[in-house]
Amino acid sequence: MTLDEILAAAPVIPVLVIEDVAHAVPLGRALVAGGLPVLEVTFRTPVASACIEAMIAEVEGAIVGAGTVLDGAMRQAAADLGCEFCVSPGLIEGERVEGPVPLLPGVATATELMAGLAAGFERFKLFPANVAGGPAALKAFHSPFPQARFCPTGGVSAANAAEYLALSNVICVGGSWVAPPEAVRAGDWDRITRLAREAAALAQRPAG
Ligand code: 3PG
Repeated sequence: MTLDEILAAAPVIPVLVIEDVAHAVPLGRALVAGGLPVLEVTFRTPVASACIEAMIAEVEGAIVGAGTVLDGAMRQAAADLGCEFCVSPGLIEGERVEGPVPLLPGVATATELMAGLAAGFERFKLFPANVAGGPAALKAFHSPFPQARFCPTGGVSAANAAEYLALSNVICVGGSWVAPPEAVRAGDWDRITRLAREAAALAQRPAG
């Protein structure tokens, strides 16, 4: 799948920090069952790679990516695991749009956006979205950078996701609210499916 197809597959990309590999498959299935097939598994725990492998192997319909990719070696590791995309919180020096797996780099300012565009990227994570200016920043970016489209992440929730998704330069949003840590620890997969279903019902524009 192209990055645009992945970003357009659902209005919300769950950002997952998985502590126990045993949670990976039921968590992934719960989210996919609720209508959120695109899963970002962050490289923030020792079991992240094992979780990615398990989800790719066992969660039917999942589009699995790696998050918190901080350098080119981690992008390569995501590709080697079989991820379909990866996400970084910022620009990675030396990384271009061409690479072993599609990369969604984070930006927070116009200067970073310009550096990202110069590296060939046109799809960005606005991060941390609520701190980096929120919907107002995205509106302001639209006129000088009409080719750029965003997945705002960081402080996005059920309460404000629709405001982001209504913007013409937003394809989808990312967030952890659909997989609350206490629900994951408790194995409350039904609650996670309910949260995913609500998130999946949010209106989404075509990637264009
Ligand atoms: C992340 O951890 O990459 C995202 O910022 C998730 O942010 P959230 O927990 O505010 O949704």
